[in-house]
Parts: sequence; C-alpha cells; structure tokens
Amino acid sequence: MDTTRSNQLFQLAKHLIPGGVNSPVRAFRSVGMDPLFISRAKGSRIYDVDGNEFIDYVASWGPMICGHANDDVLAAVSDALEMGTSYGAPTELEVQLARMVIDAVPSIEEVRMVSSGTEAVMSAIRLARGFTGKNKIIKFEGCYHGHSDAMLVHAGSGVTTLGLPDSPGVTDGAVADMISLPYNDITAVKSAIDHAGGDIAAVILEPVAGNMGVVPPADGYLEVLRKVMEDHGILLIFDEVITGFRVAYGGAQERFGVTPDLTTLGKIIGGGFPVGAFGGRRDIMEHLAPAGNVYQAGTLSGNPIAMTAGIETLKLLSTPGVYEKLESLGSGLSDGLEMNANECGIPAQFARVGSLSCMFFTDRPVTDYASAKTSNTDRYAKYFRGMLDRGVYLAPSQFEACFVSTAHTEEDIDHTLDASRDVMKRL
Ligand SMILES: Cc1ncc(COP(=O)(O)O)c(C=O)c1O
Repeated sequence: MDTTRSNQLFQLAKHLIPGGVNSPVRAFRSVGMDPLFISRAKGSRIYDVDGNEFIDYVASWGPMICGHANDDVLAAVSDALEMGTSYGAPTELEVQLARMVIDAVPSIEEVRMVSSGTEAVMSAIRLARGFTGKNKIIKFEGCYHGHSDAMLVHAGSGVTTLGLPDSPGVTDGAVADMISLPYNDITAVKSAIDHAGGDIAAVILEPVAGNMGVVPPADGYLEVLRKVMEDHGILLIFDEVITGFRVAYGGAQERFGVTPDLTTLGKIIGGGFPVGAFGGRRDIMEHLAPAGNVYQAGTLSGNPIAMTAGIETLKLLSTPGVYEKLESLGSGLSDGLEMNANECGIPAQFARVGSLSCMFFTDRPVTDYASAKTSNTDRYAKYFRGMLDRGVYLAPSQFEACFVSTAHTEEDIDHTLDASRDVMKRL
C-alpha cells in the first residue's frame, strides 16, 4: 500500500499540530504506524490522499450511521448553507430537531443543544449538581464522557490507548468529588453510596460502554442501577453520545427499557457536524438558564447547519426497516468474525449491540475495564495493519468500537470477513 503522501503530510503536521493530529487516537500510535490522511468519503468507503480505498468501520467514531456524504443529508445541508450558517438567534430548525429527539428518546422531555459530547456531559453534570444541591458524581472505569477535567478519571478510549490513566493539568480539586467504580458491579455502587454520606448528585454511565471496546451491561444491571438511584434520590445519567440513535432509534434506554433522569447525546444527531445535546425530565431541565439559574451557553449551539444535518439523519433513521438492516449487517459481521477466529484458533471475545461491536483479543470474558485490558494489544495492532492492507479501515485501537452504517452492504461484510480470515491465519 502506497502511503507516501500521508507520510509526508504527517511529517509536516507534526511541526504544526501537537502530535500531528487534532484528537489523540487518530495518531495510530497503538497500532504502530503513522496515520493515513483522508481526502474524501462516500457511502461505506473512505479514500486516503494516496488514492487507497477502504471499507470504513470507524464512521468518524460513530456519527456517520447513514454512510458518508449521504445524498439526502448533503442536499439539505447545501440548501441550508444558502440561508446563512449561524445567527446566534433561535431558529425553527432547533425546534424541529428538539421535537424529533424528544419524540424518540424515552427520558427526554426537554433538550438543550450544544456543540460536542464533551460539552453535553459537562453541562449535564453541572445541572445534576445544581438541581440536587449535592456534589459527588459516580462514574465507571473505562467509560469515556469527553475530556472535561472531572471526567478524565479512568476514562478509557484515547486515554487507555495512550496509557495515561489521568491527565496532568487536571487539579485534585476538579476530581475530588468524582468516584470511579468498576463497570457492571452493582455491589461497588451500593457500598460507594453507603460511604458518601448522602452527597451523591448523580451516577453517569455509558449504558453500553463503547470506549473500552464494547462492553454491554450485564443482565439486570441497568434496571438495578435505576432502582438504587431512585431509592437514594440520586440522578441517573445515561451518556448516549455513542448509543443514542445507534443501538435503537431511542438509544440504549429504548433497547433495554430503562429510563434515566438525564441523557447526553452527540455524534449521530449532528449528522457529521459538531453537535451535542443533553435532555431529560422537565423539572430538572427547567433549572437551566434562562428558565432557571444553572448557567450554560454556547455561541454555535443549535447552529442551522448541524441542526439540518441532524434532522435529515434522523428522518433517514426513522424509515421503517433501518434498524433491522443495521442489526442484520452488525450480526453478520460479528458472527462471521467469531467463526473466523474459531477456525484460526485465535482466542477472542465478541461483543455486539446492534450495529456497534467489538472483537477483543483475549480468552477472558470481558465485562469491565480490567477484563478489557487483558486483551493482547500487539495482536490487535498486527490485525489492524493486516486489515488495512486488505482495504478495511478499523479503529486504530483495541479499545474502540466497530461501527456499521446503512451504507454498508452484504458484499462489504463478505469482503471484510474474507480479509479477516486471511489476516487471522497469519497472526
Ligand atoms: C460516550 C461518549 N461521551 C462523550 C464523548 C465526547 O464527545 P465529543 O468527542 O463530541 O466531545 C464521547 C466521544 O467519543 C463518547 O464516546
């Protein structure tokens, strides 16, 4: 595979941008190579600056659920561009997208738009503290909730990939009220609540963890969490930045039938443009300024281009049969990979919820961050490079998810499985 131009650009980028990239995991460090520079994408494919073509399973880390450069989204955005790109004043588009989100997501009665998932979580946490008058927040090891200071405690994903458990620059004060516990362990939650002396405002989790690889909730885990929080007057926050409109139209809360108090969203609801949102019970949301006194704001929040792309994406996703198709493509891929691994004698674990999936190179069941970390990351790196050579672009880290879109075809899956068998034979 020719990577001359990508390599040249990376050398240049390293002098201009820290590490040569604008978000750490893009640097490909954990897979032992330099990143490819992408020039364009369409449907299930991305193309790099050297003209290589790949079937893409990164999907811009989740948003591109309808495939890249979807014709309907492009047409709507192109019309919207003609009308001006930001006014800093309310628009009908914001009302329209709010309506669609509220209709779709069971817990959301009111919603506020922001410009990233990080912002959504940061704001939801402030609101939870402002509403309850309490300080402490429980989060779970390996769940990533964006890079705001308090959330960078045992934060999975990019942080895991780079081997940085926490980040310099985060003060002790910023994390003093954070309690970090193992995922899928209800006993740990109960004992933390017993020790915290009634000062816990909220528990936040990814209802399907997608930033330590994919780790689904154990049977009954979400239900018990819901009940325990209710019993103790603690807010339950689902971070559905990945799972929202991904594992079902109404997100993990629809799929698992558990309703949180607050929900954070991002990625898909921006259709590939910068977006985040948080919403939930009306009595809580009404504490936000200007309705209430918990402050939160944003210059580009709800901007018409992102709203348009989001509206168009949700329209496409509400077409009958879409989630069945995603389920079928997702299971075809995951089941096929499992067969290949068995055939090639590769110890691996498979996790899948709808079109969100992950293959861990470990012989131990993966239920939390500690077990995810038993994965053989050298083997993943080799696998990643082999797949890339065969035209398949996977996440450049063992601890990320694989995303299938509606633009993927059975042929794409078949090609991916053929490639994976070939690579696994050589691992
Ligand atoms: C579950 C979750 N929450 C929050 C975020 C932060 O979103 P953003 O990168 O848009 O700030 C991410 C990003 O991957 C995420 O996966």
